[in-house]
Amino acid sequence: GPGPVEAVRWWGRMARSPLDTYGALARRYGDAVRVPFGRNRAFFLLSRPEHAERVLVANQDNYVKAFTYRPLRAVLGDGLLTSEGGTWRQHRRVVQPVFAQRHVVGFASQMVDTAAKTAERWPDGVALDAAGELRRLTLGIVGRALFGSELEGEAEKTGRALEALQRAAVVGTFLPGATAKRGVYQRVPGLGGALVHLDGMVQRVVKGSSGGELLNLLKESGRFSETELRDEVLTLLLAGHETTAASLAWTFMLLSKYPAARDRLEDEVDEVLQGREPKAEDVDRLPWTKAVLSEAMRLYPPAWTIERDALEDDEVAGVRVPAGSTVAVPPYLIHRNAEVWPNPEGFQPERFMGEQKHPRYAYLPFGGGRRICVGAGFAMLEATLVLATIARTHRLDLVPGVTVPVRAEITFRPAGALPMRVVRR
Ligand code: HEM
Repeated sequence: GPGPVEAVRWWGRMARSPLDTYGALARRYGDAVRVPFGRNRAFFLLSRPEHAERVLVANQDNYVKAFTYRPLRAVLGDGLLTSEGGTWRQHRRVVQPVFAQRHVVGFASQMVDTAAKTAERWPDGVALDAAGELRRLTLGIVGRALFGSELEGEAEKTGRALEALQRAAVVGTFLPGATAKRGVYQRVPGLGGALVHLDGMVQRVVKGSSGGELLNLLKESGRFSETELRDEVLTLLLAGHETTAASLAWTFMLLSKYPAARDRLEDEVDEVLQGREPKAEDVDRLPWTKAVLSEAMRLYPPAWTIERDALEDDEVAGVRVPAGSTVAVPPYLIHRNAEVWPNPEGFQPERFMGEQKHPRYAYLPFGGGRRICVGAGFAMLEATLVLATIARTHRLDLVPGVTVPVRAEITFRPAGALPMRVVRR
């Protein structure tokens, strides 16, 4: 990797544009890069499946969420995504049963209804912001399914709050004295208002809800203080809708660019559904639809980087990682590693049809080990049903001449609006 002087320049680039810079570091130095920072610490950018397996699974006890999660922790506190140790374990024990597969299928009809209602609102032949529509749709689904709340009306403000939060998360990581204290971020211009909106939404969910199942469970477990309850509700609302919206936005963008893949998807949906709306049982009969989603998440993983701090010295697939180092195992880079993925930049859903040939940790859109996404099954069911529901009746085309700028901070998503023209099939 770069020497200490050169490293300063790389850190500057990382603070401005982390995804591009990770890519540039890997191209310049290979799939295991050491970047010094501070007086005697280092950051390791590791992009082989074996690296991910060691850090997230085999030696996971040696790792905690990295310092780069501090700004997020300031906002999400002791929610599942950012807590550690005993608090994390207790929360996970309460939340996990709701996300068990046999339980998640019970949310299918809410997922389909919400998708169908969203698509019905779209005027025929008109360009709209697909990214915004999909955020509204996925926020509607988590609100209804998990919390018994109608949240579509909050989507626009929530989207703006999240943009502010994500920008602050990257900038905040690199500020000297960056901290996990909420008070600091409340004073940042633009971010203060975002936090007020998010807190207000959580309060409305906790107080006004007609008793969503997950909320009742959290309340009745007796294990959550008022702050912990707030942290968990906010975590599930945000982690539970932004990522799924991004994966659907990328999927519709790719389908518009690859008409043969889209034709095959429409044929599959038409044949399986025969003109009715999908049910949970149909998902197993939609292999191409699922393969399209998987391939979209390979090229565009919404959780594009996963980072940990090492507690003790470790050796990660031949790389010596001293205690106190920060390690990144970014799905974005691992998913495009040419040694495990033939034609890594190509959109080829066939990769996910039938038996899978890639090594297990070559594909990790939901992470791995005990901190694996608790909502993975929920998200896959939701994305498949939403895609099938919309594709049954509508087709989305990128507006010609529009290039789609990308943005990667905490999540990897289209930057700003994603203008697509909607036509009824
Ligand atoms: C954790 C990705 C959807 C809730 C994670 C992690 C990843 C991820 C990579 C691990 C982060 C790390 O190890 O540092 C995704 C993607 C999704 C998605 C790509 C959609 C396509 C959801 C949904 C929910 C959810 C629908 C809830 C309704 C969570 C929570 C955690 C988490 C609570 C923290 C789990 C823990 O540490 O115990 N997600 N997620 N996610 N996700 Fe998801």
